[in-house]
Amino acid sequence: MSMCTNQSLVQLIVILCLITEFTCKFEFTNIKCNCVDEAYCALDECYLKSINRTYKYLSIKVHLLKPPITNVKVRMAMFKRYNGYKPFLYNITFDGCKVLKNRKYNPVANYFLGFFEARSNMNHSCPYDHDIIVDKLPANVVDYHATAILPFPEGNYLVESNWYVDDIERAAFKIYGTLS
Ligand SMILES: *[C@@H]1O[C@H](CO)[C@@H](O)[C@H](O)[C@H]1NC(C)=O
Ligand SMILES: *[C@@H]1O[C@H](CO)[C@@H](O)[C@H](O)[C@H]1NC(C)=O
Ligand SMILES: *[C@@H]1O[C@H](CO)[C@@H](O)[C@H](O)[C@H]1NC(C)=O
Repeated sequence: MSMCTNQSLVQLIVILCLITEFTCKFEFTNIKCNCVDEAYCALDECYLKSINRTYKYLSIKVHLLKPPITNVKVRMAMFKRYNGYKPFLYNITFDGCKVLKNRKYNPVANYFLGFFEARSNMNHSCPYDHDIIVDKLPANVVDYHATAILPFPEGNYLVESNWYVDDIERAAFKIYGTLS
């Protein structure tokens, strides 16, 4: 999908949201982490936790067995559930180090980084010589980003990301959520 088509789709969704006044509320529904290359990384944490009705969060901790990371390519695709999960709106591949170095390099990647960077130790430029942590990312932070900053229609979503270092896939994450 070209950037141009993406832009008009985004505009359409924004307009739809304004017209129909979506009352969007985000919840995490599932998370799946996978150290594809077990010689490269290990998962110390990967879970969702529900403290009470309003406080739910996601935590991920990836232990790196061969630091430092000096290059990383990320493939990120979004899906929406209709009859099974179907590709929805975004399917991008980008240089993870560049996104962190230059916020204007890839606006879509930067938008997705915005979901978790405040709760992550990943928000500095490469290299990474430490474990990668997303610590207690609350659903309401995602809610704010997914509804106030760029509104999405209600439904069940999946964001899948695959992480490549030296062009070899090392880790993959699937985060499921629902907007109602
Ligand atoms: C939910 O838990 C958080 C953290 O312990 C607390 O600050 C908040 O007041 C709780 N909310 C409700 C509605 O109990
Ligand atoms: C995303 O794009 C890549 C490259 O064009 C393609 O191989 C892949 O199947 C696409 N994935 C989805 C979910 O659309
Ligand atoms: C990076 O994370 C730190 C600590 O979590 C936070 O204080 C800072 O604002 C973040 N930087 C950006 C650019 O979001």
